[in-house]
Amino acid sequence: MKSILVIGGGGREHALAWKFIQSPNTEKVYVAPGNAGTALEEDIENINISSDDIAGLLTFAKDKEIDLTVVGPEAPLVAGIVDQFVTEGLTIFGPKRFNAQLEGSKSFAKQFMQQCNIPTANYQEFTDVTQATNYLAQQSFPIVIKADGLAAGKGVVIAQDNHEATEAVVLMLTDGAHGDAGRKIVIEEFIQGEEVSFICLVDHDTVIPLASSQDHKARDNGDLGPNTGGMGAYSPAPLLTNALHTKVISDVIQPTVQGFIDAGYPYQGFLYAGLMITAEGIPKVLEFNCRFGDPETQPILMRLQSNFSQLCWDAARNQLTETSLDWNPQTALGVVMAAGGYPFDYAKGETISGIENISASHTKVFHAGTALKDNTITTSGGRVLCVTALGNDIKIAQQNAYRSVKAINWKDAYYRDDIGFKAIK
Ligand code: AMP
Ligand code: GLY
Repeated sequence: MKSILVIGGGGREHALAWKFIQSPNTEKVYVAPGNAGTALEEDIENINISSDDIAGLLTFAKDKEIDLTVVGPEAPLVAGIVDQFVTEGLTIFGPKRFNAQLEGSKSFAKQFMQQCNIPTANYQEFTDVTQATNYLAQQSFPIVIKADGLAAGKGVVIAQDNHEATEAVVLMLTDGAHGDAGRKIVIEEFIQGEEVSFICLVDHDTVIPLASSQDHKARDNGDLGPNTGGMGAYSPAPLLTNALHTKVISDVIQPTVQGFIDAGYPYQGFLYAGLMITAEGIPKVLEFNCRFGDPETQPILMRLQSNFSQLCWDAARNQLTETSLDWNPQTALGVVMAAGGYPFDYAKGETISGIENISASHTKVFHAGTALKDNTITTSGGRVLCVTALGNDIKIAQQNAYRSVKAINWKDAYYRDDIGFKAIK
């Protein structure tokens, strides 16, 4: 796989492209559309095609004779990009449209989990607002309301009482707050515990677990404030002991893989289980994603020592021979630097200073919402950078990451200063 096309433009895609180009057999990586970070890497080139423009991406991959395409975000996967590339005889790594429903429809995912006996919250689904509110009147709180379809991480409401729950239900079902994605909803039991991300590479019946990681979804210190795409992550996650790891594979991942084989659609691609580990040590699935996590990818790939291009190439052709991967035993920790105001309104186009001074070999500044304007790096999104560092333990990784975070600045830059606190406490 001399040439690889990475689809997407976030921090995850910068990390994927950065890792691919380190593989000895990869000479060129294209990123569509990429960001300022991928634009500045040697042998990586941005292509001005949106990640949703499947026809444009297909034409590009054919014209350039791209060896392997890897998809970052969920939207093109749910829209069936893999099916289209495969029909045209191209090699692409990711789940097909049928499998991507696991992320694209909460209702599909819940039914699938029920059928396969995968531990998850009890639920009911609704399209009718009166039936939903009647149901709520008999429930205890907090309770969780989820839009069925993709809602860019904004489709989940944890309601503390019936009033909040009813408001969320009306917003989704009656007011169309998430458009068609919220015309059907799932109402599920609130599960208490600690969250962990479990990401694997799956090729039909073969599962290769990646290093464990933990995300920080809340915007503010102490896990307070609104939910975001993720404000920082670290790997490994000490919460995921060997015993728990074995349990997640046997109780969650294997039944998922087998369920898709039984359905006649073997899964191929990254598979991400968002898990809540209960006080009793039981992993329950909060959600499935059909892709790599962002920002989990950044610390995970920082630690990966295996040939990543070869791995994805083998997996995409159903010819995996690897059974385990080599990891740097150090901890990697990534801090997301966001635009002030994120996840709500925020400014774009601010000039970022200080990245050029960061040279420590243990640190990598992955870009997300950045753009190049006359050779100046400017902000262009809510999550702007993910400053990721290695260290012999999580405390040192945290110190290393924050040393660089403090050296970078732009107007109204915002970040949490406690990433990793649960693993440190
Ligand atoms: P999801 O997109 O389904 O992962 O939901 C986003 C976030 O909401 C998760 O990362 C959890 O923090 C929280 N969440 C979702 N479902 C539940 C649940 N059943 N119980 C408690 N928290 C939940
Ligand atoms: N970090 C959470 C996600 O990628 O969905």
